[in-house]
Amino acid sequence: MADLHIDCFDMINPFVIASSPATRGADNVIKSSACKPGAITMRNYGHGMGGGGFFYPSFDAVLKGQPAFHSHAVGKQLPDTMSSLEEYCEEVRRARRDMYPETKLWASVGHYHDIEKYPDWKERWVKEAKEVVAAGADAIELHFNTPGVATASDRQFNYYQLVANCTRMIKKAVPGTPVMVKLAIEDCDCLTSIREAVAAGADAVGPTARWKAFYFDLDWKTTQPRPGSGYGGTQANPLVCFEIADARSRGITIPMYAGGGVFSYDQALRYIMAGSEMVQLGAIACSGGIKVCERIIRQCSEWLDKNGYSSVKEIKGQALQLFNMDNAFAKRRQDKLGEAYRLRDADPEKCIGCGRCTDVCWYKGIELDGKKARKTANCIGCGYCFQVCPTKALEVDAAGILKSAFEEK
Ligand SMILES: Cc1cc2nc3c(=O)[nH]c(=O)nc-3n(C[C@H](O)[C@H](O)[C@H](O)COP(=O)(O)O)c2cc1C
Ligand code: SF4
Ligand code: SF4
Repeated sequence: MADLHIDCFDMINPFVIASSPATRGADNVIKSSACKPGAITMRNYGHGMGGGGFFYPSFDAVLKGQPAFHSHAVGKQLPDTMSSLEEYCEEVRRARRDMYPETKLWASVGHYHDIEKYPDWKERWVKEAKEVVAAGADAIELHFNTPGVATASDRQFNYYQLVANCTRMIKKAVPGTPVMVKLAIEDCDCLTSIREAVAAGADAVGPTARWKAFYFDLDWKTTQPRPGSGYGGTQANPLVCFEIADARSRGITIPMYAGGGVFSYDQALRYIMAGSEMVQLGAIACSGGIKVCERIIRQCSEWLDKNGYSSVKEIKGQALQLFNMDNAFAKRRQDKLGEAYRLRDADPEKCIGCGRCTDVCWYKGIELDGKKARKTANCIGCGYCFQVCPTKALEVDAAGILKSAFEEK
């Protein structure tokens, strides 16, 4: 089995079960640790508990690795059973004692709403940091992400300044403990917030995507998701990949733990290939449970085995070669595919004369001659028609051509 261990923070694998109902209090942390993740963030105390989750279109789609989104849906919001720092620290102690011993425990410090609720929020956060560390937390996580950020009634403050000042403040309070800074990718420039956190001494940054959103069925009365904050999903994947790869390409070297829409193993591997060391599991841990998390971890390992990697470290940042293609090479590669499209004519044996190709050609590059499509000299090789042809009468090995450009290089 491929080795999933990662050196930063000495974790048995890259997975961090993110702050959520699945990590609320010691009981849920202990329960979640059964899937043996690298780390678990225990959720903050005192801001309510409960709330359900909802996968659209279905949980089945999630299990098949298809696109899906997740939203907070039904479920009662109860007052949190942990209402004081003392109670939270007791939960940290108990979790640390009884959870899977090789999983690290990250404790949450600070909640966005504290800023609006408590004039002395800074002193409270410093106290929280010191006490959760004394209670046995392996690391601290500061939350500057959604849903906390998005649900704040008013953002009167400067987000970047807040990230920088709080990171500096907490790092000073617990200098020997890793401080993980969880950041939003929405409504801010992610790279700027990463840079601020790094300059302020963060030990890791966690760019995460969850949004305010409004989804509804056309029969809107039967809609399950609740409008507002707390929408996530696989659509986050390319956006978060960009933020990680961008940060890595612009000199950010500290560990990262990317989050958002990791519902299956391939999305997790993509975050690592984009340059993140760790991967958060949020909605999937709450709404999929331990067995699904276990499956994702196992499938990552199986994929690495199948593809000839002996450890997860080998794939870290691999996709940066794609991200950082220089313009000349990117153009050569694109032209290679374009030429293949341009030179390939429709196969008369396979063409059924449906006309979809002529519908999407904007250059008069293909025409129907009776019931058979035929290219003209005007074809520029854009590839539209290849994508819509239902019979593969128009076909080139696009993946092979794109790959060969790297091999030749
Ligand atoms: C029901 C639910 C509650 C959450 N509560 C918190 C929270 O209290 N604090 C926090 O930092 N993030 C919270 N999150 C965000 C997750 O910790 C995680 O960063 C995010 O869900 C990752 O995206 P994903 O759900 O698409 O995997 C919550 C997520 C969900 C689904
Ligand atoms: S889309 Fe394909 S099958 Fe249809 S007319 Fe064009 S080449 Fe023929
Ligand atoms: S490749 Fe583009 S330009 Fe050429 S025939 Fe197809 S759609 Fe038209």
